[in-house]
Amino acid sequence: MSKMLQVKNPATGELVQEVRINTEEEILETLKKGDAAFKDWSKVNAHERSRLLKKWANHIQEHKAEIAKVMTMESGKPINESLGEVDYATSYIDWYAEEAKRIYGRTIPANTESKRIVVTRQPVGLVAAITPWNFPAAMMTRKAAPALAAGCSFIVKPAEDTPLTTIRLVEIAHEAGIPEDVVQCVNGYGSEIGELFTNSDYVRKITFTGSTPVGKHLIKNSADTVKHVSMELGGHAPLIIAEDADLHFAVQQTMSSKFRNAGQTCICANRVLVHENVAKEFSDRLVEEVAKLKVGDGLDKQTQVGPVINERGFEKVVSQIDDATKKGAEVLCGNQFDGNREAGYFFIYPTVLGNVSEDMKMMQEETFGPVVPITTFKDIGEAVQIANSTPYGLAAYFFTNDYRTGSYLHENLDFGIVGWNDGAPSAAHAPFGGMKESGLGREGGIEGIEPYLETKYLSVGGL
Ligand code: SIN
Repeated sequence: MSKMLQVKNPATGELVQEVRINTEEEILETLKKGDAAFKDWSKVNAHERSRLLKKWANHIQEHKAEIAKVMTMESGKPINESLGEVDYATSYIDWYAEEAKRIYGRTIPANTESKRIVVTRQPVGLVAAITPWNFPAAMMTRKAAPALAAGCSFIVKPAEDTPLTTIRLVEIAHEAGIPEDVVQCVNGYGSEIGELFTNSDYVRKITFTGSTPVGKHLIKNSADTVKHVSMELGGHAPLIIAEDADLHFAVQQTMSSKFRNAGQTCICANRVLVHENVAKEFSDRLVEEVAKLKVGDGLDKQTQVGPVINERGFEKVVSQIDDATKKGAEVLCGNQFDGNREAGYFFIYPTVLGNVSEDMKMMQEETFGPVVPITTFKDIGEAVQIANSTPYGLAAYFFTNDYRTGSYLHENLDFGIVGWNDGAPSAAHAPFGGMKESGLGREGGIEGIEPYLETKYLSVGGL
């Protein structure tokens, strides 16, 4: 009897669909096929690869409503956000369909008349991707599109909670004409499939989006076969409000950073640091807006904040709020829950906490929920010190209209992505990725295809 993944809607607990877990033999066979497919796909000319990627993007757009609905049902994400994510996912394919044609080499002047030096780029080989549940479409295409554009073959293992969106994207890739063994999907548990990926000699690159502990494990396990690795790991973004900030605008941007996908993004504001002279006004304005947010089933078009993904996610956020309030945080709004383990739904009402201090768990650990902890600072140097005080370095935000304050913050924040008066910096054409324990490598932009390419240096002598 086959083992199945039960994909359930976290807004209702209802079973959406069962997905068969692939056996070890099947996964090993998939890896073998992926390696064989690489030999052909890497020889397909760049313009043809580009054409097929564009076709994939167009087919995804034709199925936009259907994909978004599946995404909302398996992840709980509000339908408007799921529709937006389908566009966001498509934008990576569009971008890399163009980049496929721009994988340039170079020549280097030799130090003797008898030699010529030529540098070319070639695809690394079969890529194995492990993708997260919070952006089941965009995190897949952000890896698949540059891999395919570079000439790599690709295998994806989607998150156990949200495999359906990815399965559909892979089917659509095949419908668009990308050969079946060039893009494959396998299903099962991350720990088991991760081992098969890292142990395989066929896999030349592992790309992962997920937690820092799992990322570290994959890096260690990739060492024996010296695989390329790209890691987009956890974050703990500070959002700094300087004394001169436009508070109306800063509140709007804080809302869009924090409550996107119910706060379940690696780059969302995890700590809000406000200058003490404007803290009261900022908090009052924020609470007024947060109290208006509509929480509910993502399939309802009015919903702005859906459930969190599962019981584990729910318990983590509840325990962080509990820890903070026990240590003296003040509940400014929220701190209400509607979670039912038996029924299988998990809602956390948007919560704002004041009087937060650095000893609270949520100031050190990623929250992944709709909670805004607010703390204050006296001067911008102190804000930087607090902001940089975790092992994470993915995204940071600040709000100021003073160019000296802005330049100082930009230069001193140890984060890979910095939003200056911008709470929504992600874009297919820009390099996304973290410093410190938030990751290795960049996804998106011209940087995002580099990790799928090897450099080959040819030295021609005897001329
Ligand atoms: C993430 O933070 O989990 C990805 C979000 C994005 O690409 O904007």
